[in-house]
Amino acid sequence: MDDLLRTTAERAINYLRELPGRSVTPEVDGLIGLERFDEPLPAGPSDPERVIALLDEAGSPATMASAGPRFFGFVIGGSHPVAVAADWLATAWDQNAGAFTASPVAATLEQVAQRWLVELFGLPSTTVAGFVTGGTMANLTALAAGRHAVLARAGWDVDEQGLFGAPPVTVIVGDEVHPSLLKGLGLLGLGRKRVVKVPADGQGRMRADALPTISGPTILCAQAGNVNTGAFDPIEQIVAQAHEAGAWVHVDGAFGLWAAVAPERAHLVRGVGAADSWATDAHKWLNVPYDSGLAFVRDPEPLRAAMGVTAAYLPDSMMREPAAHAPELSRRARGVEVWAVLRALGRSGLADLIERDCHHATAFAEGLTAAGFEILNDVVLNQVLVSFGDGDTTRRVVAAIQEDGTCWAGVTVWQGRTAMRISVSGWSTTADDVERSLAAMLRAAR
Ligand SMILES: Cc1ncc(COP(=O)(O)O)c(C=O)c1O
Repeated sequence: MDDLLRTTAERAINYLRELPGRSVTPEVDGLIGLERFDEPLPAGPSDPERVIALLDEAGSPATMASAGPRFFGFVIGGSHPVAVAADWLATAWDQNAGAFTASPVAATLEQVAQRWLVELFGLPSTTVAGFVTGGTMANLTALAAGRHAVLARAGWDVDEQGLFGAPPVTVIVGDEVHPSLLKGLGLLGLGRKRVVKVPADGQGRMRADALPTISGPTILCAQAGNVNTGAFDPIEQIVAQAHEAGAWVHVDGAFGLWAAVAPERAHLVRGVGAADSWATDAHKWLNVPYDSGLAFVRDPEPLRAAMGVTAAYLPDSMMREPAAHAPELSRRARGVEVWAVLRALGRSGLADLIERDCHHATAFAEGLTAAGFEILNDVVLNQVLVSFGDGDTTRRVVAAIQEDGTCWAGVTVWQGRTAMRISVSGWSTTADDVERSLAAMLRAAR
């Protein structure tokens, strides 16, 4: 066992050491090498060292270098070394993080991380957190609490009785709502298409002046950080109006909520603490390994009503029970890596990471503008949308950038216009990486 784990650690270290120097897009040979996995089910055992060798030799070259410094696709931040190390130890622990009794350490680290995050984001001190797999599940978890709360106020216990015969719930979203939030609404029986959509402005911000009249059980979903532009809904105004009418306000801040941590960006989330629930990702800007998301709810009661489970074999506990705050009963201890990054970076280290990435995004926008290309968004955070001309031209340039391999960014369509989307979300990106990537982009565009 010792040799297997030691040589595997060596392989992982080599992988990470070589990452900044290799093509971000996997090379064709690496993709062809995936054929080595296509073998019959082994009839019997084989040497674990050889299994790991195959995994590394055929698997590593076929990875996207998204953990490296020049991957700017989607919103994916490479894992911080302390998070990788904490993950290794937590994997060796193999804890079931669902119950305090099953893992006192996992439950304690979650509780500490919950307290630190609530403080960092400026959320009410009563707020509790569920440690889930990502933004999609964080939205679903928080919205389950919202569904419980608005129906409880109408005299209906949705978690006991279900939705059949329940008073209707109105769900309000912005025109630029993330599709994963709509998926969550579908899973909760609230419907992907049954929503009332509020028009958005040119940056994708919900227009507070266009909110509908609210009455009856209502959940309003605002957004902190549009996945294309990085723009923020006017949360302060929206919460005030929605609360006056008795609605539950949820904020999808998958990556944008982290703006609260950086003093120069905190104005973007002004008023966010007045909402009722929030969703964010840890695997994005906190730079922990996949998968890791966080659902926050101001009032623990509706969350525990939606997520709590009791069974004769499960211990009654006075401690914070992790499983009462998330959909899963048994799960891995993903709070360990969240705790580790927060413990290692502290408030100022985290602020520095967020601010640095935002500066890199601005540098991209300035470099591309100087070269004569059009930036389609106000670069307020870490997202840049650039057009290289008409749709076909932009797609061709993005394909050439991806093929070149110096860096990676994807295509999107923003309010009818095809664009390349740059998202800077990693701890390891330097000004030199931005310069090299800009040069590669301009080479491809010319
Ligand atoms: C605003 C927003 N909400 C939700 C999500 C979904 O998060 P995840 O992919 O972690 O489930 C994303 C992903 O990019 C997002 O940007």
